Amino acid sequence: MPDFPWSSLPQPVITEIEDLRRLYRRRVPKMFYDYTESGSWSEQTFRENSSDFDKLYFRQRVAMNMAGRSTASTMIGQDVAMPVALAPVGLTGMQHFDGEIKAARAAEAFGVPFCLSTMSICSIEDVASHTSAPFWMQVYTLKDDAFMQNLFDRAKEAKCSAAVITVDLQLLGQRHRDVKNGLSAPPKLTAKSVANMMTKAQWGMGMLQTKRRFFGNIVGHASGVTDPSSLSTWTAEAFDQSLDWGRIRQFRKMWDGPLIIKGIMDPRDALEACNVGADAIIVSNHGGRQLDGALSSIRALEPILDAVGDRIEVHIDSGIRSGQDMLKAVAMGAKAAWIGRAWVYGLGAMGQPGVTKALEVIHKELDTTMGLCGRTDIRSVDRDILLVPRDFSGDWA
Ligand code: GLV
Repeated sequence: MPDFPWSSLPQPVITEIEDLRRLYRRRVPKMFYDYTESGSWSEQTFRENSSDFDKLYFRQRVAMNMAGRSTASTMIGQDVAMPVALAPVGLTGMQHFDGEIKAARAAEAFGVPFCLSTMSICSIEDVASHTSAPFWMQVYTLKDDAFMQNLFDRAKEAKCSAAVITVDLQLLGQRHRDVKNGLSAPPKLTAKSVANMMTKAQWGMGMLQTKRRFFGNIVGHASGVTDPSSLSTWTAEAFDQSLDWGRIRQFRKMWDGPLIIKGIMDPRDALEACNVGADAIIVSNHGGRQLDGALSSIRALEPILDAVGDRIEVHIDSGIRSGQDMLKAVAMGAKAAWIGRAWVYGLGAMGQPGVTKALEVIHKELDTTMGLCGRTDIRSVDRDILLVPRDFSGDWA
C-alpha cells in the first residue's frame, strides 16, 4: 500500500522543513507530535539549539567559480551523499506506520546513514529485512548486561555498520507535555486520546494495517520492566544511573565495530570518549530534551574541537533544521551533522516521500548556500565562510 492511498489528490508544495512540520502537526495525533516538539522543563536549551545558529552569519562572496559543486563526503570512513545522518528518534513507528522502515529506505535511496533508535517501534530485524544498505544502531546504557550484549549481537547479525551509544540519558529529562498526554506506545485509549486520533484519518488507516505498534527492540527482550509501553517507566527501571566511563569501556568490548558516542557537551568528556576508543563523537544535548539550561550544541562545539584535535571525528546534532544550519555546523568544524526533528516532520507529514523531501530540502539549501559562499566542495568548507561573533563560544568562568 502506498503511504497515502489518496496521493493522486493535489499535494501541498513543500519548499522548506517548516512546511513539513505544519503538515505533520495536522496529520499525526497530538501525543506523538508533542513528543517530537518538546524539550525538557522550560525548553531553554531546545529553543537556543536553533536560535544560536541565527547568530552565525555567512560571508557573501561573488565572482568565484561555483560550478561543479559536490556535497559528497565521508562519515566514519563511509561514503555519504552529504554529511548528514538521520538521528535515532524513539517511537517513530508511531508517527507513521512502519516509520523506521520508511525512514531507513529513504536514507538508503538518498545515500545518507540511518540510525535506528533502541526505542524504535520496528525492530532491528524488521529494518534489516526491508533495507539493503547497512544502517547504524543506537543503544542506551542499561543496567542489564544480557540485554546490552543481546542488542549488540542483534545489531551485528543485522549487519549494522556502526553502533551509537547515547551517554546523556541515564535518567529522562521531563517533558511536560508527555506527562500530561500520558505518552505510550501503543497510545492508551482515553476519551481525550481517542477524540484526537479520530481527527487523524490517514494516520489511523496506516496504523490499522500494521502489527508494529510496540517497542520492537524491547518487548520480548527486556526483563523486569513493569510497563513496556511506557518510555518513562522503562527508562526509570532499566537505565543505569551509575554509568561511568569504566562501564562504557565494557560496552566497547561488547561491540567490536565502528563506535560513535552521542551526547558529549564538555571537552573533558570528549577526551574520555577518545580514550575509550570511539571512532566519532556527537556533540549533542539530545535536542534540548535532557539537561535544560545546557548550552546549545553549536556553541559547545569549538572548545571540544580544540580539545580533541585530530584524535576523533566530531559530529553535531540538536537544532539543525536547514541546509544553512548544516553548512554553519560544518564551517564551525563538525565533520557531519545529524538531523532528528527535521526528518520526523517529513515522516509524519508524508511517510517515506516526506523523509526524502526533508533530505532534498536540506540538500538543496546546503548546495545553494555553499555555492553562494563561493565554495564548491563540502569537504573544504571552513570557518572563512562565516562571520562568528567574538564571544560566540563564550568565555565562561
Ligand atoms: C529519547 O531518547 C527521548 O529523547 O525521548
